[in-house]
Amino acid sequence: MTTQNEVAAKAHTKLLQVRDLSVQFKTNDGLVYAVNNLNFELGRGQTLGIVGESGSGKSQTVLAMMGLLARNGAATGQVLHHGRNLLALTPSELNAIRGDRIAMIFQDPMTSLNPYLTVERQMTEVLELHRGMSRRDARVRAAQLLDAVKIPDARRRIGFYPHEFSGGMRQRVMIAMALLCEPEVLIADEPTTALDATVQAQITVLLRELQRDFGTAIVLITHDLGVVAGLCDDVMVMYGGRVMEHAPADDIFHRPSHPYTRGLLAALPRLDDTVDALVSIPGNPPNMNSLPPGCPFSPRCRYAVDACTAAMPPLVLREPGVPAWRACVRTPAELDAVDAKGVAHA
Ligand SMILES: Nc1ncnc2c1ncn2[C@@H]1O[C@H](COP(=O)(O)OP(=O)(O)OP(=O)(O)O)[C@@H](O)[C@H]1O
Ligand code: SF4
Ligand SMILES: [Mg+2]
Repeated sequence: MTTQNEVAAKAHTKLLQVRDLSVQFKTNDGLVYAVNNLNFELGRGQTLGIVGESGSGKSQTVLAMMGLLARNGAATGQVLHHGRNLLALTPSELNAIRGDRIAMIFQDPMTSLNPYLTVERQMTEVLELHRGMSRRDARVRAAQLLDAVKIPDARRRIGFYPHEFSGGMRQRVMIAMALLCEPEVLIADEPTTALDATVQAQITVLLRELQRDFGTAIVLITHDLGVVAGLCDDVMVMYGGRVMEHAPADDIFHRPSHPYTRGLLAALPRLDDTVDALVSIPGNPPNMNSLPPGCPFSPRCRYAVDACTAAMPPLVLREPGVPAWRACVRTPAELDAVDAKGVAHA
């Protein structure tokens, strides 16, 4: 019998360790540094949220991890899966892990579902190929998973074609497909962005249940901090291809220590707020081909001082002993002082 200590020890086993991951693209205008020196670890059943506005480097981070970068892109660093560096594997070695131990859900299910095959055929094919199951056993398993993602009347609907499902249902089918081989890690890139708010909430609850029931570790990418609330253990906030803040989710929501995180939070609708109270971050995300000198957020930052444009502030521990990192020239206390004065520049 497994003791509680063994369960606890297993829970802390690191499935993924990402070390100094960087992604660069060759373009006609020179190199684009889309992701820079990213580090994180993920244990069994843990969830990491990667949050940031459009173009901040969220998708390229996970595409690099999965060996799916565009031809003009290259990744450096290490992505260790049980200690094996995915970036150094051959395509066939990587294929054996992709979709099996590490699965990915994309924003638009139609890009990953084959419109000409029934959902049953698409699901059973994977189980026959990866798990050596008979067609009959594969069908039973596929229906169980559709049940798990709450597709009503799963045993009948398994025979439907993708277009016969609604958008929200298709997203559930995608999640069920990603879970077919019981992956240790599920990477979900904006899994709810295309859906309306009610379905978004249902999918979020579903991911939480799956994490609980299957012990799946999840990397959840979103531009909406609200989606990660209640689902993520840790949150990494990205801007201009860099990590601005990386901390336990509670800290991100209750003690945000970076101006960009504070900006994202202020732009988040809350139940007790009126729409008028929302403050969106002024300006636009940077053009990655011509980033400003120093901190990429400086042109939009209400706390900026001269030192911000001198050099990129390094990502450092917020305070000793707390697993929280921030990249900002100014201390959280200085930011608070600016807020207290209610002026743009201290
Ligand atoms: N093939 C490419 N060639 C050149 N640059 C690229 C290429 N693909 C992506 N980029 C650059 O990488 C940056 C990060 O892209 P990424 O797809 O990771 O953004 P994202 O954070 O996922 O944004 P979104 O929320 O819009 O999906 C982009 O701003 C773009 O400049
Ligand atoms: S380094 Fe400067 S510009 Fe960048 S977030 Fe901090 S205060 Fe703002
Ligand atoms: Mg993206």
